[in-house]
Amino acid sequence: MGARIACVDLAGEYREIGAELEEAAIRVLRSGRYVLGPECEAFEAELAAHVGARFAVGAASGTDALVLALRAAGVGPGSEVVTSPFTFFATVEAILLVGARPVFADVESGGFNLDPEKAAQALTPRTAAVMPVHLYGRCADVASLRSAVGALPVIEDAAQAIGATRGGAAAGSMGTVAAFSFYPSKNLSAAGDGGAVTCSDPEVAERVRLLTNHGSRERDRHLMIGTTSRLDALQAALLRVKLGHLEAWAEARRRAAAGYAERLAGLEGIRLPSHGPDEVHVWHQYALRCAPGALRSAVCKALDEEGAEWRHFYPYPAYRQEALGVDRLPPGACPEAERACDEVVCLPIHPRLGEDELDRVAAAVRRGALR
Ligand SMILES: Cc1ncc(COP(=O)(O)O)c(C=O)c1O
Repeated sequence: MGARIACVDLAGEYREIGAELEEAAIRVLRSGRYVLGPECEAFEAELAAHVGARFAVGAASGTDALVLALRAAGVGPGSEVVTSPFTFFATVEAILLVGARPVFADVESGGFNLDPEKAAQALTPRTAAVMPVHLYGRCADVASLRSAVGALPVIEDAAQAIGATRGGAAAGSMGTVAAFSFYPSKNLSAAGDGGAVTCSDPEVAERVRLLTNHGSRERDRHLMIGTTSRLDALQAALLRVKLGHLEAWAEARRRAAAGYAERLAGLEGIRLPSHGPDEVHVWHQYALRCAPGALRSAVCKALDEEGAEWRHFYPYPAYRQEALGVDRLPPGACPEAERACDEVVCLPIHPRLGEDELDRVAAAVRRGALR
């Protein structure tokens, strides 16, 4: 077995740009401005420009960003939000945290993102918003979703998809409002928790900004009940450095994905991830679909034997989680999502994945598939 092949390589990232990160961190430490202030303002402006939205507002995490986006879009108790069950639990948790009810619509046949037609079928008079998730770094079909759901707010969960585009529009600029996560494993990552909301409507942006800071614009005046959810200046400064490298890193991820596609073509029982010609994928994950049962187990075992990490994002549809209580749905509710849960195996992918590592991972997958 060679050296371990990790799914996330933050130590490698630090080796690449550590000096820049340290300079940024020291700049903030010396400034004494740790909450809000010029680093946050600069990062927000740079992020908004990157995403192609008019506004970006920093938040303490991606989950908070989703909650803030929902609240700013007017979603609250008694309302419903149509979303995908094939996602990280935080998507659904945010809906529950604002007192609304998640309503699950299945993902596209053979895909991982919300099916616009099924989302439209799930609408009721109580639907207050629709929340697609750009899973694994590939944009959901927000254009079709928007035409299918009419004037309802579309809230993008863009946690995994910074830089991804579809039909020329970028994740974070397609809906009414969007949420990003800068959790350390994300393509753009903080040294801790962080998130942001993007939108182009000034009133929504203003509401988000108020909500992040106790409903307050000026000292001792509180216009609404908000919370404490700001992006730390230290994180903003580090994120500014990394944002400058993001496009090159996304390109490196695309090269790695192309490397897998070349090496893994034509294996029986294994389907490779794909996307349309009008899409730019940022490969937060490289998700194989393996026929469930013996073949999938053999692939995972071969990866383990090779010392290559792999991840099972996500083994259960969100509606099976106990946290949903009475809203928990029975197995079979969204068959496409359940198939994805049974089949998916995420291979290591990051900007510094070498040819040798691609060879080793692909060879292990082949060995497993041919066992
Ligand atoms: C799809 C999705 N939504 C929301 C989140 C929540 O982000 P955070 O962990 O920053 O709260 C994450 C990441 O963890 C995610 O992958």
